[in-house]
Amino acid sequence: MSDALIVLAALAAIAAGLRAWRHLHYPSFWLAIGFPLTAASVRASWRRVALGCNLTKKRQRWWFTTVPGAIASTGLVKVRRRFQRVAVDTKPFMWLPLPTRHGWRVTLHTLEGQTPGDYADAAERLAHSWGVHAIRVSSPRPGRVVLMATMRDPLVKVNELPPSPDLLKVTVGRLETGQPWTIDFRTVPHWLNAGATQSGKSNLANALIVGLAAQPVALVGFDLKGGVEFTPYAPRLSALATSRIESVSLLADLVALMIDRMGLCRQASARNIWQLPPALRPVPVVVLVDELAELYLMADKSEKDEIAKTSTALLRVAQLGRAFGIYLFCCGQRIGSDLGPGVTALRAQCSGRICHRVNDPETATMTLGDLDPAALASARAIAAETPGVAIVAGQDGQWYRARSFYVSEQTAEQAAQTYAHLAPSWSEITTHLPEPITA
Ligand SMILES: Nc1ncnc2c1ncn2[C@@H]1O[C@H](COP(=O)(O)OP(=O)(O)OP(=O)(O)O)[C@@H](O)[C@H]1O
Ligand SMILES: [Mg+2]
Repeated sequence: MSDALIVLAALAAIAAGLRAWRHLHYPSFWLAIGFPLTAASVRASWRRVALGCNLTKKRQRWWFTTVPGAIASTGLVKVRRRFQRVAVDTKPFMWLPLPTRHGWRVTLHTLEGQTPGDYADAAERLAHSWGVHAIRVSSPRPGRVVLMATMRDPLVKVNELPPSPDLLKVTVGRLETGQPWTIDFRTVPHWLNAGATQSGKSNLANALIVGLAAQPVALVGFDLKGGVEFTPYAPRLSALATSRIESVSLLADLVALMIDRMGLCRQASARNIWQLPPALRPVPVVVLVDELAELYLMADKSEKDEIAKTSTALLRVAQLGRAFGIYLFCCGQRIGSDLGPGVTALRAQCSGRICHRVNDPETATMTLGDLDPAALASARAIAAETPGVAIVAGQDGQWYRARSFYVSEQTAEQAAQTYAHLAPSWSEITTHLPEPITA
């Protein structure tokens, strides 16, 4: 009796120790205990799971099978063993699972006739079968599929905004894979940032402002919410438009600036400002637009001309801005074609897409375009309790679930004050362009 008690006490102590280890240092617990057990169970269950998720194929195999033979005089059926071809369910070959920061990943060999899409369709069923938060599917090369499992949602809590030392590159949050979520304007110059109200659009703009404030970059704001969002950041902004009229003139300035820079590049035989010698290179301009739809909404016919001007100017900036160091970051609740052809054309120019929580499937479709349907489903599944979570499509053609770091208005305001001295004045940017080189 006492022996049993000792064993029970020892087991309880081990269980408590493991719990404490898991709680205190999850990464080492996961590598030493959690992952080996999970990997063994994934391998052991693969046949059943693949069958249940329709990922197996019938194949003909030679097999010893029992077949009923003649009925003996006693009335019993004689069973014979015969070597014959039978159809068996074959599962895709699975390599050993490997641990990742938030779960595990495993490579599979696809069976004939299968595509990565078949695995993506089964991703939710696979996640439920293995009891993990999510399974993401990618295909590094033909015939191979990588399943990436995340045990728990890594985006429930993301830590502090790190400093962003590289020019025009800001780490704004964390991807579901655990990697940093970076917005790099030199790789993807123009971005669309959509989402329902309170989904985290302005928080992301704050993160960008904080990241860019310390860099030698001019920031320009269009805040059609009457300036309530961006006015506190005015010390670091080189220009701010808060109404339609102001927007028309600021956009006209931007177009003129672009044409000036075009001339400068032409004279120096440079294709873009980055090919100019550093002494001649003009300052890059990042244009932040909040409530994009307001630029296109028409209250009455008298506004038609203004809207046409705004729309054309914004589109020109999007089409030509990249080479001349003018980058766009447009936020809006809806960025749909119902706002007019200008928006559709602008959308086509913005290769960076961010879709926060949306209320209707069309907004997700309009923002993310013709990405994988799983991305659209994922965007619609973002919960209201996790503002800042978004689906991001960037330079590599892949989509990711990501969450921005929380950046309060006060933090962004503080950064704008601290780096106010780095804000070039608008007149300096627009009128004192460096003298072009004369050959
Ligand atoms: N990444 C995040 N982490 C934690 N909280 C966040 C995050 N992003 C946003 N929030 C919270 O969600 C709230 C709404 O965010 P935000 O103001 O950015 O939404 P929005 O999409 O700009 O809304 P609106 O369309 O009304 O302007 C904020 O008050 C903030 O506290
Ligand atoms: Mg907002």
